[in-house]
Amino acid sequence: MNTIPGYTHGTPSVSRSPVSLTDFEQMKASVLFGEEDVKFLRMSHDIVKGRVEAILDVWYGFVGSQPHLLASFSGKTDGKPLGDYLTPVRKRFGQWILDTSSARYDQAWLDYQHEIGLRHHRVKKNKTDGAPSTDLVPFRNLFALIFPVTFTLRPFLAEQGHSAEDVEKMYAAWVKSCLLQVTLWAHPYVKDGDF
Ligand code: HEM
Repeated sequence: MNTIPGYTHGTPSVSRSPVSLTDFEQMKASVLFGEEDVKFLRMSHDIVKGRVEAILDVWYGFVGSQPHLLASFSGKTDGKPLGDYLTPVRKRFGQWILDTSSARYDQAWLDYQHEIGLRHHRVKKNKTDGAPSTDLVPFRNLFALIFPVTFTLRPFLAEQGHSAEDVEKMYAAWVKSCLLQVTLWAHPYVKDGDF
């Protein structure tokens, strides 16, 4: 059983995604995501599972180096970074690396995607950790982070001797998976009826 605080994937506290598995199949087709991508995400699992902390160091370093990003992890009134917020979120982020590379897309996964979207949006941001932080991760940052997250992952995918072609395919599968996930997370940000 998973004991990461606030990681509620597969539990009854997660509400049903407004996006259906059929919709998600169409989204996959839209981004050219197929069985080959599942295969290469799972290939990447064996690489990333032993490198989670090093990957998180790079990603947290990136967010921490940009004040407008760090603001989402900082006190709403004093603007100071909140260690008690950054640390538990980092643990769930680590689990997300493993989940993304496991590439198992069932209803529980879809529902947790919606939960992650709500946690970036004002509906649920701060609630899981009781953090006194800003109300919302601005969508403009959420979407744009797809590039640095995937681009900085690439050297990790290449460090264990896989062929250049396999590295390229793992990288492409990660880009597509992040595009799909952040699109799902966008649901609370999009006007009713427009998703
Ligand atoms: C939470 C991933 C963009 C700020 C999380 C979590 C993950 C994640 C996996 C934990 C979800 C959980 O609770 O299980 C990502 C990815 C992004 C992205 C893959 C882009 C591709 C951003 C950006 C910011 C941000 C741009 C703003 C700097 C946060 C915050 C939380 C969080 C503040 C905690 C939300 C809460 O209060 O529960 N993110 N994120 N994220 N992320 Fe992101």
